[in-house]
Amino acid sequence: MVAWSQTAPQHANSKPASAIRGKQIFSSACAQCHGLDGRGSERAPDIADRPTVQRLSDSQIFQIIQNGVPGTGMPAFHSFDSSQIHAIVAHLRTLQGKNKTAALPGNPEQGKILFFGKAGCSQCHMVAGDGGFIAADLSEYARIHEADQIRNAIVDPASNGQQARLVTVTLHNGEKYAGRVRDEDNFSMQLQSLDGSFFFLSKSEIDKLQTDSQPLMPSDYGIRLNTRELNDVISFLIRAAGGTDAAAQKKANEFEY
Ligand code: HEC
Ligand code: HEC
Repeated sequence: MVAWSQTAPQHANSKPASAIRGKQIFSSACAQCHGLDGRGSERAPDIADRPTVQRLSDSQIFQIIQNGVPGTGMPAFHSFDSSQIHAIVAHLRTLQGKNKTAALPGNPEQGKILFFGKAGCSQCHMVAGDGGFIAADLSEYARIHEADQIRNAIVDPASNGQQARLVTVTLHNGEKYAGRVRDEDNFSMQLQSLDGSFFFLSKSEIDKLQTDSQPLMPSDYGIRLNTRELNDVISFLIRAAGGTDAAAQKKANEFEY
């Protein structure tokens, strides 16, 4: 971790307009890693053009600057006061383009209808507290995945390593349970059924265990959904993760003095 506070510049003595101040602080504190234009260098990623960064709220960026990203090369800037950090955020928003929004590829409202309807995603996945339990909660997925990565996860789950399968267990007494194996040791198995309930089974009770031949995440969404529908679902996930560009933009403008 870089001991940044020792080398961070102080601008407290002069009081230029905040936007200029933000630019100055950015040049001296951020540019050597992220580049003067914010588009990155071999030391740090692009924070100007990447949609995942554009979609961060001002307060999230504020936190990142103040606390750094632990375990990475992004240092914490404890020595800046909040007005200095606000000025940096405002300048970063300028670099990201005042009027350029990280446009959604489709219609999130339609995507929501598909997610909870025809596409059936909500049978397995939850978003914002609504939906199924058997697969990953997707509420935050788009925070760290670009649209293309989300598309890929939907249409080509195998390439994403999504091989989770359902199993059906038959006990000696004839009872059957279907679900996902969530935990297992030599003597027992914890099974989660599609409705989210957990079953704790002793292996000595188990007569038969069948694993579905197909992975749980359907592999045919590239055919079942057309391009527009896919873009709609992706947009729904992006927006669910807090990526409303309009809101981000409005906040950014609040910092233009
Ligand atoms: C010593 C190099 C360095 C400096 C100086 C630096 N950063 Fe970073 N920054 C990084 C690295 C490396 C990452 C990627 C962290 C990761 O892997 O998640 C990063 C990540 C970020 C992110 C998050 C990007 C994301 O993907 O979520 C933001 C925002 C950011 N930096 C803003 C700034 C700002 C603003 C400054 C100046 C106040 C600054 N950084 C100074 C190295 C640096
Ligand atoms: C029958 C259950 C099922 C349905 C229906 C389903 N998925 Fe999945 N999905 C899974 C499983 C299982 C995984 C693998 C990740 C995990 O273990 O939870 C997965 C993984 C994903 C991932 C990657 C998540 C990660 O953390 O890597 C995304 C994104 C995703 N699904 C989106 C969708 C979307 C969008 C739909 C609807 C168009 C959909 N899924 C329909 C079961 C399902």
